[in-house]
Amino acid sequence: MKPVEIKKDIFWVGAVDWNSRDFHGYSLSPRGTTYNAFLVKDEKITLFDTVKADFTNELMCSIAQACGGTPRIDYMVVNHLEPDHAGCLDTIVERYHPEKIFCSPMGEKALRSYYHNSQDWPVVVVPTGASITIGKRTVQFIETRMLHWPDNMISYIPEDKIAFSSDAFGQNWASTERFADEVDSHALNAALADYYANIVLPYSPVVLKTLDQLAGMNLDIDMLCPDHGLIWRGKDEVAHALNSYREFALQKPAKKAVIVYDTMWHSTEKMARAICDGLADEGISVRIMSVKHNHHSAVMREVFDAAAVLVGSPTHNNGILPLVADVLTYMKGLRPQNKIGAAFGSFGWSGECVKIITEHLTGMGMELIEPAVKVKNLPSHETYQACYDLGKKVGQAINAKLSA
Ligand code: FEO
Repeated sequence: MKPVEIKKDIFWVGAVDWNSRDFHGYSLSPRGTTYNAFLVKDEKITLFDTVKADFTNELMCSIAQACGGTPRIDYMVVNHLEPDHAGCLDTIVERYHPEKIFCSPMGEKALRSYYHNSQDWPVVVVPTGASITIGKRTVQFIETRMLHWPDNMISYIPEDKIAFSSDAFGQNWASTERFADEVDSHALNAALADYYANIVLPYSPVVLKTLDQLAGMNLDIDMLCPDHGLIWRGKDEVAHALNSYREFALQKPAKKAVIVYDTMWHSTEKMARAICDGLADEGISVRIMSVKHNHHSAVMREVFDAAAVLVGSPTHNNGILPLVADVLTYMKGLRPQNKIGAAFGSFGWSGECVKIITEHLTGMGMELIEPAVKVKNLPSHETYQACYDLGKKVGQAINAKLSA
C-alpha cells in the first residue's frame, strides 16, 4: 500500500499482510494482519520500526514516496526486535546508513543476538526517561519490559501527542483502512481481545503496571499507533484502547463456561453435551469446543473471559489425546487467572485421563470442582446423570463466584 499521512509529516509506511493466518507461529490471524512502521519527516528523518522481511520492498517503496522521491533515513527507532518488526533491520541499515539507531537496553541485547553483523551499527541505548531531539520534535522513550518481550518500548512525541506502542494495543486486522474509527467497532474489539488473549495475557500484571505508569506520566496522547492493525485516533479512541487493556488485564470472568474435549468413538463427546446441559440449566452461556475443529488459539479466545473451563479426553496409551495435551500446554503458558476447572473423560481399561487433566488444571491454579466424571466405554443412564450433575455443580460455583 501507499504511505498514509496520519499527522502532518508523520506517515504510516507499513505493510498489510492479507494472507497471514499463522501469527508468530502459534496463533491464528483469521483476518490477516499488518506490520506497522512510521516515518516522521523532521530535520532528522526518523523511522519507527520496520516490517517483516517478506515486505522489505514495500517498506522501501513507501519510504521513498513519503520522502518525495529522495529516500533518506537519519534515525531509526527500534521499539521491538521480534522479526515481524525488525526482520529487515539489516537491509534497511545497509541501504540508508542511519546516523543513529535507538533501542531499549534489552533491545540492544536482542539486536546483537539477532544481527551478528551489527558491531559497527551506530546503536544508542535509550532507557525509560531518555529523550532525543529530531528537529522541531522530541521523542521520549518508555520501556515496557515483558509487554510482551523484554525489549519492547513505547516512543512518544509530545509535540504531536502521538505514541508508537509496539505490540501493545494491536490487533490482527488486514484492511485498506488505517484507523480504528473507520471499521466496525464490535469486530475490532473482538480482534483486540483475541490478540490480548493469545499474545499479551501472561503479562497482565505488567499491563496494569504500565497503564498506571502511563497515567502517572500524564502523557497527552491523541493518537496511539500499535505495530499491528489499526491506529487509535482521538482521545476517546485512545481511552477505549487503554481501558480495554485494563479490563482485559483484570481478567474478570463472564457468566460463561468452555468445554474443551477430544474424542475417539464419541463417548467423551457425549459426556461433553450432557455436561453442557447441566451448565445451561444454571443459566451459564456455554461453548463446546472440539480440539479437532478448533485451533488452540480459538479455544484460548473463549477461555480468556470464561469463568470455567471443563476439559475432557479419552484415556489413550495411559495418557490423554495429543490435541488435548496441546491445548492444555498452550493454555498453561498463557496463565489464565480466576478460573473454575473440571475434568471428565472415557476409558477402556486403564483410565488415567481424569487424573492427568486434573493435574493440568490444578497446575494452572484453577478452583477444581469434583468429582470428575470417568466413564468406561459408553456412557450409561447413570453416568449421563453424573455428567449433567457435574455441569450443574460447575454452574452453581460460577453463579456463587460471580455474585460474591
Ligand atoms: Fe508483533 Fe512481538 O511482535
